[in-house]
Amino acid sequence: MSKIDIYNSARAEDWVKSTHSKWTRFPKDVIPLWIASPDFPIAPEIKNAIITAVNNDDVSYSSDSDTKQLIAEKIQKFNNIPVTPEDIMIIQGVDPGLWLTIHGNCSVGDEIIVNDPMYGTFRRVAEDVKAKVVYWPLEFEENYKFDTEKLKNIITKKTKLISICNPHNPTGRVMTKDELKSIADLAVDHKIKLVVDELWEDIRFDEKKHLSIASINPEVSELSTTSWGCSKTFGVAGLQIGYLCTTNKSTLNIYKKLSSGIQRGTTSLSRAAANVMLSEKLDWWRINMVKHLTKIKELVIKRMNEIPGIDFRDFEGTYVPFCKFNYDMNSREMSNYLLKEAKVAISAGSGFGSRGETFQRINIATSTNIMNEAIDRIENALQKLKPL
Ligand SMILES: Cc1ncc(COP(=O)(O)O)c(C=O)c1O
Repeated sequence: MSKIDIYNSARAEDWVKSTHSKWTRFPKDVIPLWIASPDFPIAPEIKNAIITAVNNDDVSYSSDSDTKQLIAEKIQKFNNIPVTPEDIMIIQGVDPGLWLTIHGNCSVGDEIIVNDPMYGTFRRVAEDVKAKVVYWPLEFEENYKFDTEKLKNIITKKTKLISICNPHNPTGRVMTKDELKSIADLAVDHKIKLVVDELWEDIRFDEKKHLSIASINPEVSELSTTSWGCSKTFGVAGLQIGYLCTTNKSTLNIYKKLSSGIQRGTTSLSRAAANVMLSEKLDWWRINMVKHLTKIKELVIKRMNEIPGIDFRDFEGTYVPFCKFNYDMNSREMSNYLLKEAKVAISAGSGFGSRGETFQRINIATSTNIMNEAIDRIENALQKLKPL
């Protein structure tokens, strides 16, 4: 199979035999477009790295310094942040990075600014530490621009953290330099730390550039803790590998203390895989996957917008965009209706905040066959309803 056809090879009859929660949560006749995981195979280089590590008995206590070195080089080159391996922690994915950053910097009564809509972990962890979540709205009608005038108005003396998810799940926005610079200026002026999630950095369309907020200047770098991972680009969430970095030594020490005895990096097999994922050996994967996703994106936007009551706007990054459903149902009712009537599982927008109420999040990282079948089913089911 060619290096581009592999992304189009997914077949429901194969995936339902897997242990993948995306495909096993619902009955076998449901097409799952919910959790943010792709239906692509694993790159052969990743499989080989894990097999080689097993053959070399690499499953004992072992050093992570080679992986940290590669991570530092990747962050210097791709994210343009001048870091050393000492500024990095290997973690079990981006969620633990968000957990450490919020627990390490916030406590009862502090305020944390979170977008509405936003990936749910930010809000959940803020609630864990009993911080007050203050919402920074992103409006569909404004093409989800990050309006920093609105941000300025919600900053108070109690604001401890501003959350940044770039590229943004679930709006599909890739933040501009101006947006990031304005947030960075506010953070530096008010000495507010930033909890930054750049997990989706590889999934961008139409040559949109990814800019890391911590690269803007050394002051904002000191205030930022950025987490990255491999789960979205390579479909390897089960390897549980991510990495966190801050150039602020005392902030990093807080995370090390919090981690002591609980969080100790990831497995040697995942690190062996990471060494390949961080290298240029998989540049072909990043490039070809985005080419495939671009085709699927065009197909989905064209076909979905032909359905009365649907408003599916173009998006700049991620493969889990929001789509507006103009029907007399809230988002939970609509996702339940489509699960029952269309046998398609998508994510109700309300799970991402109150501004998600009329939206559904749809994972498009699959084959054209599966996507077309899902859209046929959605179209048929919606024909039974009257759009607003
Ligand atoms: C924005 C964002 N952050 C974090 C995560 C969790 O990532 P990980 O599997 O690396 O913990 C996800 C998963 O969908 C996500 O979309």
